[in-house]
Amino acid sequence: MLTMAVPTAMAAGTTGISEGKKLVLGTSADFAPYEFHKVIDGKDQIVGFDIAIAKAIAADMGAELVIEDMGFDGLLPALQSGRVDMVISGMTPTDERRRSIDFSETYYKSKQVIVVRAEDKDKFPTMAELENQKIGVQKGSIQEEIGQKIAGAKLTALDKISDIVLQLETNRIDAAILEDTVAVGYLDDNIVLAPAVPDEEEAEAAIGIRKGNTELLNAVNATLARLKSENKIPQMVTEASQMMAGKETKTPNILEVFWQYKSFYATGVGYTLLLSALGVIFGVIIGLIICWFRLHDAAILRWIGTAYVELIRGTPMLVQLMIIYYGLALTLSINFSPLQAGIITLSINSGAYLAEIFRAGIQGVDRGQMEAARSLGMGKAAAMRFIVLPQAFKAVLPAIGNEFVTIIKESSIISVIGMVDIMYQASVVKNITYQGLNPFLIAAAIYFVLTFILSKLLGRLERKLSASDRR
Ligand code: ARG
Repeated sequence: MLTMAVPTAMAAGTTGISEGKKLVLGTSADFAPYEFHKVIDGKDQIVGFDIAIAKAIAADMGAELVIEDMGFDGLLPALQSGRVDMVISGMTPTDERRRSIDFSETYYKSKQVIVVRAEDKDKFPTMAELENQKIGVQKGSIQEEIGQKIAGAKLTALDKISDIVLQLETNRIDAAILEDTVAVGYLDDNIVLAPAVPDEEEAEAAIGIRKGNTELLNAVNATLARLKSENKIPQMVTEASQMMAGKETKTPNILEVFWQYKSFYATGVGYTLLLSALGVIFGVIIGLIICWFRLHDAAILRWIGTAYVELIRGTPMLVQLMIIYYGLALTLSINFSPLQAGIITLSINSGAYLAEIFRAGIQGVDRGQMEAARSLGMGKAAAMRFIVLPQAFKAVLPAIGNEFVTIIKESSIISVIGMVDIMYQASVVKNITYQGLNPFLIAAAIYFVLTFILSKLLGRLERKLSASDRR
């Protein structure tokens, strides 16, 4: 009776979901028909029966559904850190996972299958033949665990199912472990089911909720109970499978791909430029401060400056990004958006490199310049401002330009946390078109155009500044 009462209470607005009543769903939209990308009316949308269930939950709660697409592997940390409120991603409620999150009642059952290239169809009559083979699985999934139990198997664990199928098509792996419902979407002349079937066949799916969020858990279970009693879930599965069937048959060439998905890339360019521009601005500011520290008379400031440069330069930007995006959320509950985390990471990272460039420039100016200026009666600050810095700036301009170009390219790393930049959009297009090369060639061309324009502009500036040298 209590669970029946919950939906009404939820509708009245007493959920644990505050903030303008947004219900944030975390999912890995590579799992058709559960959840996948599809272009509808020229717009990229995430659809599938998991999404239909999520919409029903949000509707029952009177909340607005916000979908965050990420690697399957990143879902548990995202839920635990509060970045998302629930996870619906065909996720099996294993004992291991139950230790860190709670699960709703199950809503779907699937079986495990092995997919192989058509020519290998008869090579794997039973699981025994999979021993010592190269096998693809999704990172962090139960399929990965199944793979780990196959003796001598060399596992390739990847973020997205489409990548696994691509690896299979390109002979990098010999077989992949998938769920039957999902495998169907990839079967064609090339990719077929093998007769071999994993022992632990059945896998159920349930909705993940943060531990202790019983209010949401009850609301979710209430909606699931309603959907089950109305027999809605099989219907949702059918509808999702039909949407999936609308897969294109003829493979478009690179120009067609570009033209069809130009709005995706345009969005990506916008974010890449925003990210890089802000990264450059804050990077220059940080760089100037650190450079000033490094050249300071006070030993403690010099020490701080050096420590900063060594620390940032000595660790990968990807690691810094993870610390800022996930680490701060887990330890200090500071939840940066992907854009914020991206800007911060790029700025502190390029700040270290720019500080070194600035320092080299200043120290590269002949000592005699400072001495001459001082002996002509200029103060230290004025000599710095009018004599040393202009020469230093001119000398390091090419190096600064290099750094700016690097920032544009390196900003692509931020795509791993779901920042919608060029690189991210390229993977989205890859997931929609099932093309492994063209979406990235397009991204490469766009990055090249951006950096080429930038280096031309910087070259101009350099020539202008060196005009005085030729006089
Ligand atoms: N059921 C499997 C698991 O829980 C795979 C789920 C993968 N889901 C996805 N959206 N890719 O590990």
